[in-house]
Amino acid sequence: MDKIVVLDFGSQTSALIGRRIRELGVYSELIPGDTPFSSIIPEGVGGVDANGNRVRGIVFSGSPESVMKDGIVPDPKLYSCGLPLLGICYGLQRMTCDNGGLVEAMGEREYGSVEVKGQIPGANETFADSEKLRRFFAAFDPAVSLDTIKNNGASSSAGQPSAKEFHISSWMSHSDQVTRLAPGFRQYGVSAAGSPSVLVHESKPWFGVQFHPEVANCERGLELLAAFVFGVSQCVGEWTMEQYVKEVCAGIAEKVGNKTVLLLISGGVDSTVVAALLLKSLNAGQVHLLYIDTGLMRKNETSTVKVSLERLGAKYLHVINCEEEFLKALKGVEDPEAKRKAIGDLFITIQERETAKLGLKDAFLAQGTIYPDILESGKGSEKNAKVIKSHHNVGSALVDAKRRSGLVIEPLEKLFKDEVRSLGRFLGVDEEVLRRHPFPGPGISVRILGEVTREKCDILREADAIYIEELKKRRGPSGRTLYDEIWQAFPVLLPIRSTGISGDSRNYSRVLALRAITSTDAMTAGVYPFEVSDLLEISARITGKVKEIGRVTYDITSKPPATIEWE
Ligand code: XMP
Repeated sequence: MDKIVVLDFGSQTSALIGRRIRELGVYSELIPGDTPFSSIIPEGVGGVDANGNRVRGIVFSGSPESVMKDGIVPDPKLYSCGLPLLGICYGLQRMTCDNGGLVEAMGEREYGSVEVKGQIPGANETFADSEKLRRFFAAFDPAVSLDTIKNNGASSSAGQPSAKEFHISSWMSHSDQVTRLAPGFRQYGVSAAGSPSVLVHESKPWFGVQFHPEVANCERGLELLAAFVFGVSQCVGEWTMEQYVKEVCAGIAEKVGNKTVLLLISGGVDSTVVAALLLKSLNAGQVHLLYIDTGLMRKNETSTVKVSLERLGAKYLHVINCEEEFLKALKGVEDPEAKRKAIGDLFITIQERETAKLGLKDAFLAQGTIYPDILESGKGSEKNAKVIKSHHNVGSALVDAKRRSGLVIEPLEKLFKDEVRSLGRFLGVDEEVLRRHPFPGPGISVRILGEVTREKCDILREADAIYIEELKKRRGPSGRTLYDEIWQAFPVLLPIRSTGISGDSRNYSRVLALRAITSTDAMTAGVYPFEVSDLLEISARITGKVKEIGRVTYDITSKPPATIEWE
């Protein structure tokens, strides 16, 4: 299968480049920007790797660093290998700097939506490969559709008798700019602030743009990536979910052989999709699924998880009921960080104890790590270690030991959440699981402010079940259910009592806050703008059904300044 390598120089959007290319139907891999040439293409240019993949082109990503200071430097052999190169932002500046041009700081940063204007070259400009040029410039010609570009129809006006002007509304984030082109480069576009924004080499298949075509609101961005991938690099689009699953399953089967694999199940999308992949790749008898029921789960969660995994063919599903142990560890603990620590520590103790009991000390350990979970400081450089976010994994001696012995399998580590959902859909994972809102590792303990008790857990679980049921029943402006329109919704039990009336007497009952947020990545969040009638009816249902709750409020704070969870 044809493949495009994205060299990651550390930009926030590096992984998006790979993802957009996969959306175009071409396999793409993101690797650190300083990976040696011999590891990028061990089989040599034009060769095929062990999985049957052939590198057709290389993208240089953006970076928060400056090429003039600490920026990551790619292997110079990339400049003599003859493969097509596309430089994006820092990537363009990197190519410039490495080949004899000059990059300097700008007076002011150019950020956000920026107009780029320029010219699609006409016949008077001669290039070593005018066909590739024509195909590249199809991206800037509004008359050429994405489908035409994908089908390699080179109907751009480049090379026509006269040059043609273009304007696009691009997306940029840069404070350095190219001030002298490297020899051989020509400039075809300029930003509003005057930065060279579209560069093409006259004799090599090298292209560079100062803007970010991978960002959704960059006009003609996907067309530009398509023009590079199909038109310039001549990739055949063979990346499909079916093909991907086939490859991943073959990789897992080869790595595991006839050994066993242990997977910790949280009940969320990621671990369920990994379970589905393992069960598809191996015999069910090799796959041990360990589910630690902390007692801090949502109503009926454990039984739902069991049903969905059994439907996927799980044979060894070990459900360990540890509610007592967790509640004991949380007794008297009020501080949010102390709660997290108590839960995390106990989780690790139980995980190691149960793994030993099951005789799985030497088994492979599969993890549902997805791309956004991998936080890398100064991403893109080999010296930076992976840090996994989920509290299940942090500081676990078991995970560390498995990693050191090469016994960790992370089949989702290059995917985004919605790619994982598509994969799950393909593998037959229940839609109910795939649509599920994110749920924190420490469970509802961080939604009970103050000390966690069994009684409070039960109250919160009841309120949560009603809230979520109502959201699944009601429709929003888009016609989808409120549950599907909302990124994450949950109630929070507050550590205060408030006055209420029942019959003729006053009482002091509990107060519940409802949270519902919109987001795309949980890094920032907005408040979901409910219709007031929905809120009134949901509140009435909760207070009517859960007698301990006498008052309901709605949290109207975005993130920042607040976080999504209350603790
Ligand atoms: P915050 O509250 O930090 O939450 O805005 C961002 C997202 O992360 C989830 N979250 C957690 N997930 N372990 C997890 O696995 C945790 O300790 C944790 N704390 C918050 C939260 O639900 C939201 O989706």
